[in-house]
Amino acid sequence: MADKKITRVGVLTSGGDSPGMNAAIRAVVRTSLFHGLEVFGIMRGYSGMVENDIISMNSRSVANIIQRGGTILKTARCKEFYEYEGRKKAYDNLKSRGIDALVVIGGDGSFQGAEKFSKEFDIPCIGLPGTIDKDIAGTDFTIGFDTAVNTAVEAIDKIRDTMEAHDRLFIVEVMGRDAGYIALHSGIATGAENIVIPETKTDIEEIIQSLTEKEKRKKLVNLIVIAEGGEFGDAYKLSAIIKERIPTSDTRVCILGHIQRGGSPSCHDRLIASHMGYYAVESLLLGRYNVMVGVINNKIHYLPLEKAVKEKQKIGQEWMKIVKILAS
Ligand code: F6P
Repeated sequence: MADKKITRVGVLTSGGDSPGMNAAIRAVVRTSLFHGLEVFGIMRGYSGMVENDIISMNSRSVANIIQRGGTILKTARCKEFYEYEGRKKAYDNLKSRGIDALVVIGGDGSFQGAEKFSKEFDIPCIGLPGTIDKDIAGTDFTIGFDTAVNTAVEAIDKIRDTMEAHDRLFIVEVMGRDAGYIALHSGIATGAENIVIPETKTDIEEIIQSLTEKEKRKKLVNLIVIAEGGEFGDAYKLSAIIKERIPTSDTRVCILGHIQRGGSPSCHDRLIASHMGYYAVESLLLGRYNVMVGVINNKIHYLPLEKAVKEKQKIGQEWMKIVKILAS
């Protein structure tokens, strides 16, 4: 596949949107145009490919979007693309426009689709990690994670004001699907007493014991940040257990939800999105296909798509130790 001549690039965003996707689209479009390639925007992820909802893009199409959250191409999770028939339709639609390469901005589910599609139809694909969850190996950061964490931190800081005023225990649930990065980063940054994440086993007895001990010394203000996807259950479940075991605790739950996915991307997200978008096109032109473009130690890094699909980032155990020491 490495000797193909690329002339027309399709770009799409797929899966949950993330702040910075627009900056990535802009970089892909403008770098492609710089190299004399034609660019097409595929609407609503793989759905637009299957349904032939594809638009021609020029430099003006991506003007004034670098600062906007969401995605101008819209996004979706497409069931039809799971089936061969759907992928064949998608291929025919690309073929009819002469689109010979794809840049897919999304998470591991989107890369799974890209990997399969590329093998079946011999279409070079490049993946850009766009997800607030930061649950993809081969990159230190995903597009949108930094903004989402900062949104969570801002919200939790506000919660802390009212928590302090009322001497309450707050359990704040953040997103992340089955990854605990948003919880870990936002919990550390807001001085949480406990952080509950799927990557480590939750010792509920230890949490109860420390809360009981704090209550004895009249430290009633406590913040627990919990990731949504833990084996332990959600914030309400944790709150019910705490209320049952420590009936005197004045406990409230706050689920931050989709607020974490919106908003203007942070400077960091705009930078990595621009960097990755540029290298997605460069990579296609160099014949380096079916890779995800990531950033490791501030340097561009390429990981085969199939690895990005299978591997996850790992949370170092020393972080949890630090959380305990700093919150004591
Ligand atoms: O993958 C991004 C994410 O926001 C997860 O953190 C969350 O679990 C999921 O998407 C929510 O998806 P939806 O918007 O479809 O409910």
